[in-house]
Amino acid sequence: NFVGEAMNRVVFIDPEGQRRPVDVPDGWTLLEAAIQNGVPGILGECGGSASCATCHVYLDETTAGQIEAPSDLEQALLSQAPAHLEAGRSRLSCQVTVSDRLTGCVVMVPDIQ
Ligand code: FES
Repeated sequence: NFVGEAMNRVVFIDPEGQRRPVDVPDGWTLLEAAIQNGVPGILGECGGSASCATCHVYLDETTAGQIEAPSDLEQALLSQAPAHLEAGRSRLSCQVTVSDRLTGCVVMVPDIQ
């Protein structure tokens, strides 16, 4: 387990609309959190190296506005993702690192990657 590590509660909403609250240690990416907790709908085909765009998620607007904006590379990949792009909310989950700023974040998983 993660004794001694700070945990942050994040709520994934899977493509079926089911809420999946998970506790995520500081420093994990949202992709790692989804995979380790069996959240369906995120593929992460490139293993988190920002080269596939199959880890697209939508953050709630408040959280998205509180963290560092996506890089140009991330933005370019997002524009190739099959689910529609939501400006300000769409992120590659492998590029979002969890910290206390993500506590309470709602992460919606699109129904296509
Ligand atoms: Fe490939 Fe995120 S896992 S871009």
